Amino acid sequence: MAEKTFRYRGVPFTTDLHTEESLSYAENEFVVLDDDTFNVTYPKSGTNWMIEILNLIKYNGNAELSNQLPIFIKSPWYELAHGKQQVEVLTSPRIITTHLQYQMFSKSFFNSKAKIVYTMRNPKDVCVSNYHFAKIVHCYKDPESIQEHLETFLQGNDVFGCWFDHVKGWMQMKDDSRFFYISYEELQQDLRGSVVRLCKFLEKELDDEAIDSVVKHSSFQVMKNNKMANWSLTPSDFMDHNKGSIMRKGVSGDWKNHFTVAQNEYFDRVYEEKIKDFNIKLFWED
Ligand code: A3P
Repeated sequence: MAEKTFRYRGVPFTTDLHTEESLSYAENEFVVLDDDTFNVTYPKSGTNWMIEILNLIKYNGNAELSNQLPIFIKSPWYELAHGKQQVEVLTSPRIITTHLQYQMFSKSFFNSKAKIVYTMRNPKDVCVSNYHFAKIVHCYKDPESIQEHLETFLQGNDVFGCWFDHVKGWMQMKDDSRFFYISYEELQQDLRGSVVRLCKFLEKELDDEAIDSVVKHSSFQVMKNNKMANWSLTPSDFMDHNKGSIMRKGVSGDWKNHFTVAQNEYFDRVYEEKIKDFNIKLFWED
């Protein structure tokens, strides 16, 4: 949970990063271009991983060109207080990131040919990743315990709101030809195959060597050691680099090292209840 929060259309945001105006601008005034690609995620679902993949694809696997700007600048979060200015300087085709819920996404998108890549992740791992992120980012409250954080997450009180609403909202677009969805777990299981599928969706023809380069440069180890990708260039008044890194573990199933049996059962009960009317099988479900 953020230190200083406000609600926009019922969803929690933080005054350190967002304003009513920036959120309203994103929803109502932002002009989407036909060749834009939106990288959409709930926080901690693989946002930065997808930024890296999409930019490497954009530059045909050329890591030098793809890494000209730090990751948080090259595909900015357009809903941020300073998002408008950051997006204005991007060169087309733009790759724009957002954590916004579906119902507050740009109206202008729906009259465009732009594309959306939606990445989701097992919410248990999202919850754990966010727990650690909150410890290093100053505008988030350091959760006292996993239990406290679990409650915040399951009650939908984290910044950007309820994970269940996010996934259910965005998946309304699943049959739209401009929408591509994938999971963090699929990226992990078959990164090369995922890149090939993404290229097809984006209508980008990359040869085998270029695809190999995308895979290599978006691997966890390469990103972790790349100062343009690992967030080490963010100012220390945003993030305490001594306490940890956004490139933390990069694995699936770390929730097993954090949840007690009772916490896991509690999570499962809420999950079942919230997802029971949702007719799409999610990748991490048995
Ligand atoms: P962990 O905290 O579980 O390690 P986001 O980019 O949405 O903020 O998500 C951050 C999570 O994605 C972190 O998860 C981070 O380690 C993981 N991540 C980032 N790049 C990755 C990569 N190339 N491969 C695997 N995981 C990656």
